[in-house]
Amino acid sequence: MPEDSMEKTYTCTAPVNIAVIKYWGKRDEDLILPINSSLSVTLHQDQLKTTTTVATSKNFQEDRLWLNGKEEDINHPRLQSCLKEIRRLARKRRNDEDPGLNSTGLTHKVHICSINNFPTAAGLASSAAGFACLVYTLAQAFGVEGELSAVARQGSGSACRSMYGGFVQWLIGHQCDGKDSLAQQVEPETHWPEMRILVLVASAERKHMGSTSGMQTSVQTSCLLKHRAESVVPGRMVEMIKAVRRKDFPAFAELTMKDSNQFHATCLDTYPPIFYLNSVSHQVIKLVHRYNQHYGETRVAYTFDAGPNAVIFTLEQHIPDFVQAVRHFFPPETNGGEFIKGLPVPHVDLTEGLRSTIGLEPMPKGINYIISTKAGPGPRVVKDPTHHLLGPDGLPKNTVIIHQKRTLE
Ligand code: DP6
Repeated sequence: MPEDSMEKTYTCTAPVNIAVIKYWGKRDEDLILPINSSLSVTLHQDQLKTTTTVATSKNFQEDRLWLNGKEEDINHPRLQSCLKEIRRLARKRRNDEDPGLNSTGLTHKVHICSINNFPTAAGLASSAAGFACLVYTLAQAFGVEGELSAVARQGSGSACRSMYGGFVQWLIGHQCDGKDSLAQQVEPETHWPEMRILVLVASAERKHMGSTSGMQTSVQTSCLLKHRAESVVPGRMVEMIKAVRRKDFPAFAELTMKDSNQFHATCLDTYPPIFYLNSVSHQVIKLVHRYNQHYGETRVAYTFDAGPNAVIFTLEQHIPDFVQAVRHFFPPETNGGEFIKGLPVPHVDLTEGLRSTIGLEPMPKGINYIISTKAGPGPRVVKDPTHHLLGPDGLPKNTVIIHQKRTLE
């Protein structure tokens, strides 16, 4: 059988990222070009990842997509942008490099199956990991190499930053075609091994307004957002890159908190206003500031995206003490599952001094659970064929459906 008529199946994984200098607002809605640069930390895939399998075959009648065990509409415009762009790059590569090559494989239809290993209720932007994984896996399937963040960006802006591990910036770019609005690794995940990240899952509530429409209203109505994008973020990007390179935690932490606060201030300045934080978020903010005040130095930072869950940055040595403070002020349900998932956290007792400086009224069950993780690598190819999500018939394996039911419960 000639190579191009064979069925091919590829599986890859991609990470979630959390911005410490936020992207909020587009200057071009179709190409997804931002009004400011942004910077994020890629979270480790041992705790949070998307897995995607792409199969191509001459026997498939149409392109099809299954997300988290359910068939979805393949005609989603952003998905189509990514698919068309990868097919265009594959054709270009064939034409440029070896015009004699049989290109029937490029006309084959694709089946795509994707799952997350974290619950939707965790409120993490699954679209970033999802589109990064889709683009990375499609590129494997169609033999496309090189810079792919500009393709992932067209799926979801923040997805371009999930194409790299460690500390990643997304450059605003200046060209109208968006070719220079790319993600770049600032430092790899090995650069700052002491850094730890906690996702405090505050509530099972789904977010009220999605990022896409939220930021559209902000661009139209908030003059604070315009000021932020033009006069604040450029300087913060320079300072943040310096803080990361020098591993200066207090500088990194203060910029992270200020940028999260300014992003939520632009949400309040949006008309009508958008509220992503809730009373649990506000309590976490107070807890972090009082914790830092107790020690007389900035040991912990928070950041919040378009939802109420805090993402905490700290150094490994402060984790046990900080987690104990969280456990004390947000007493968990005792009969539920584990409170801490992911990297283990050693137990320490909370000191009376720290308890009294924080001095908040405990909020029982305010936090459902904590995901304990660190910075991690970018997308990966999964070689073991037993991990494919699609079976030899090109349809999702039964295990995908069962896994997903369990994850979403
Ligand atoms: C608050 O990337 O989800 O998480 O480009 O419309 O898909 P679209 O938006 P999206 O927005 C993310 C916004 C944010 C900040 C960030 O990740 O930088």
